[in-house]
Amino acid sequence: MEITYYGQSCFLFKIGDHRILFDPFISPNELASDIDVDSIQADYILLSHGHQDHVHDAERIARNNDATIIATYEIATWYGEKGIANTHPMNTGGKVTLPFGTIKMVSAIHSSSLPDGTYAGSAAGYVVETENQTFYFAGDTALTYDMKLIPEQFDLDFALLPIGDNFTMDIHDALVAADFVQVDKVIGMHYDTFPYIRIDHEEVKEVAEMAGKELILMQIGQTINL
Ligand code: NI
Ligand code: MN
Repeated sequence: MEITYYGQSCFLFKIGDHRILFDPFISPNELASDIDVDSIQADYILLSHGHQDHVHDAERIARNNDATIIATYEIATWYGEKGIANTHPMNTGGKVTLPFGTIKMVSAIHSSSLPDGTYAGSAAGYVVETENQTFYFAGDTALTYDMKLIPEQFDLDFALLPIGDNFTMDIHDALVAADFVQVDKVIGMHYDTFPYIRIDHEEVKEVAEMAGKELILMQIGQTINL
């Protein structure tokens, strides 16, 4: 599958003919000023929780593409009331099979409200199981023992984990999370966008290497194949 990074926790996955976008926060992100939001094509937009730094461009991209927004019941309802035609409400523990694979909404330890203050339900992560690969998108979360449940049900190939500290796990907790979910390959997210979450790239790479994990820090706009 092809993965493109748009900064913060925003990734576009191309799985077969399908395009799945996670947590679009692009236009306010100074680090992503080279990205043309209106050129992004997506069939599904998966949101981990309601915070601005995960949902800012969801409405715009959904309207541009007639995409389906998948999120907690509360967030999906909020977008439905805004006139987004295609929404799919879920809640933690539930799964749904879509044309590109099966997604399961899993727990995250974090808060969640929408930019206007509307209650957004629980924060969440996703496990995405496709024909060829299975991965975990953790969203914003603390390290939690719930992560140990994931490898009991799924055989993951890689995980996208927050590493920026302050609002989420830091690299050390993320490496423990990688052990909990049983992956050796981690794509880092939720770092550098704001002063609170700036990290030293060399330092985190060294810490990951010492733990025997492959840590991928993608450039904004970069596309990789996994
Ligand atoms: Ni958040
Ligand atoms: Mn966040």
